[in-house]
Amino acid sequence: MPPHDQPSTSSKNPVPREAFATSLGAVVVALGSAVGLGNIWKFPALVGQNGGAAFVLLYLVCVAGVGLPVLIAELQIGRRARANAVSAFRKLAPGKGWRLIGISGVIAAVIIMAFYTDVAGWVYSYAFKALTGGLAADQTGAIFDQTIGSPVSSLIWQYLALAVPTIVVIMGVGKGIERVIKRLMPLLLTLLIICGIRALSLPGASEGLAFLFRPDLSKISATVVLTALGLAFFKLSLGMGAMLTYGSYMSDAQSIPGTAAKVVIADTLVSLLAGIAIFPAVFAFGYAPTEGPGLLFVTIPSVFAEMPFGAVFTFLFFVLTAVAATGAMISLVEVPVAFIHETLGWSRRKAGLWTAAVMALLGVPAALSTSVWSSIKPFGLTFFDLFDFVSSNILLPVGGIGIALFAGWVWSKDLFVKSVSNEGSLHNQGLMSAIHGLLRFATPVAVTIVLLNGLGFIKI
Ligand code: TRP
Repeated sequence: MPPHDQPSTSSKNPVPREAFATSLGAVVVALGSAVGLGNIWKFPALVGQNGGAAFVLLYLVCVAGVGLPVLIAELQIGRRARANAVSAFRKLAPGKGWRLIGISGVIAAVIIMAFYTDVAGWVYSYAFKALTGGLAADQTGAIFDQTIGSPVSSLIWQYLALAVPTIVVIMGVGKGIERVIKRLMPLLLTLLIICGIRALSLPGASEGLAFLFRPDLSKISATVVLTALGLAFFKLSLGMGAMLTYGSYMSDAQSIPGTAAKVVIADTLVSLLAGIAIFPAVFAFGYAPTEGPGLLFVTIPSVFAEMPFGAVFTFLFFVLTAVAATGAMISLVEVPVAFIHETLGWSRRKAGLWTAAVMALLGVPAALSTSVWSSIKPFGLTFFDLFDFVSSNILLPVGGIGIALFAGWVWSKDLFVKSVSNEGSLHNQGLMSAIHGLLRFATPVAVTIVLLNGLGFIKI
């Protein structure tokens, strides 16, 4: 074994590391990172803006063909290194270049949080509005415009949405997060199903279903392909070391491929369910599917409005969306905190407070870009859209290429197969050799082409 790749058991990490208590807990926490605003807010918005079912199809191809192999690689790199996103590459990789993957991940975490906390803040405020009767069904459009258009209240809700995951991360990865997320995920699923059934019973629901599931392939373009790929990375929390960091807390007996498969399947189901809850309502109530970021906020209150106990369901829906968003934000805050805590030796508390301070600062231009700064457009995008674009469509895919290249080239096929099969005890060697081959050639080449094509550097 080369000297830079010590097996995890002989790690001389001076900081005692935490670990997930159970195998199910590890799956649920990884799922807690994956499931978030990406499913409930971003997926429907992008499906609506990019032509419906054709985009859904592309997204599914990206998730299965690129997302799953990269997720396996990322979790495995973390588990083997037992370290944060930057130190992992310092431990496992020859040369210094590889740690740029981790550094770009820490930067991506801050950029994502800048706009993610903004949307999470809207969700928190909608839960509050639902509770206090502030979501009149016939004014959902106006209520949304008012929510994003008020700079002061946007920022207050945003900071609240940032404070919650920061506190959880400071408290540690231990049983707290694991237990809370394990209880709440089934509740979110149940509510999405109720919401879906309710939406399907609306008059005109079939039009929404056709939009979601009957593809019109003429809608596909280079940008649409890049958007689908970017969403796959964003959805599965890939390409910036979040899954790597969580993998570092997983036990040597955990099945990494099994965990990855469960996360991918469950996460995709949640997105599709959210689509089923939202699109029938879009058509039934005559909204435009291209509405974008407001789609969730205008449709859901309308879906529940006329139903018995509608206000209760709307309230529960936004509370659970807030919970899902918070689970995702925990992993976004954890990446820089684990890095700072382990490399600078700062306490989790000090690392958490500094991380949150930087995120809060970068969150200001995102929050204000839907109101007073809406006309400031570097590169033709508002700050909100710019942060979203740079992270999802550039930093995450580039990080994904790095992770694939690392697992495919720095790790030999033997080393990769041995470690993801838990030293041969999992009997998945054939499949895992194929995945190693994918990571070595197909994944980096495909992601590079989609990236260059989507950004306009090459034309296919
Ligand atoms: N996957 C989450 C969602 O869909 C967002 C998220 C959490 C994320 N951690 C991440 C995205 C790390 C990219 C990288 O809402």
